[in-house]
Amino acid sequence: MSVRRLAKVQPASFAFSKETRAKADWWIAKYPAGRQQSAVIPILWLVQKQEGWVSEPAIRAIADLLDMPYIRVLEVATFYTMFMLEPVGSAALIQVCGTTPCMLRGAGDLMKVCKDRIGPKQTLSPDGKFYWEEVECLGACVNAPMAMINDYYFEDLTASDMNQIIDDFAAGKTPERGPRVDRINSAPEGGPLTLTDPKLYDGSAAKPIKKLPNTEPVTA
Ligand code: FES
Repeated sequence: MSVRRLAKVQPASFAFSKETRAKADWWIAKYPAGRQQSAVIPILWLVQKQEGWVSEPAIRAIADLLDMPYIRVLEVATFYTMFMLEPVGSAALIQVCGTTPCMLRGAGDLMKVCKDRIGPKQTLSPDGKFYWEEVECLGACVNAPMAMINDYYFEDLTASDMNQIIDDFAAGKTPERGPRVDRINSAPEGGPLTLTDPKLYDGSAAKPIKKLPNTEPVTA
């Protein structure tokens, strides 16, 4: 993983939108008085949803809101890789998993497509629409190789799938998310291979429970 630093070019200021501020207040109210700092992660996320990324002025604004030292919010923002510290694509933020199962199943091909179509990793595309990066395991290894694009998982991908997905986002479409093979979520391709007997689920295989002799109902 690369070193996480704030972007060199920063906006002059940041302001919470009305909607973001209302949601932030909702999170703050969840915690007891004096513990508002616990809302730092959800508020960083709200700010990222508002701006697309987390800027230095936004970090300062969050710290002021939660009465925290600036450095504490900066520490959180730079620690968690879900927080983007520089502007990302207006159409798609593509995070390709590069951990072993995905690498063994073709993540390198997906990254090549991203590199060819978007540019070097962690760089905004020339048109400002796309940004891609390699990330660590996203917990969907059984559907490898996969990528998280904006807020959703796209799984069982091939290079051709990734090309199509980029085309779709570029055209303003919403490509289908989830597995790209014949499976539901992380079930086997073509359907389940075990526990397929319907008796397992309709109750007909259940043995009647024998009442133990001389037992009294249990009371509290
Ligand atoms: S290795 Fe890619 S999701 Fe786990």
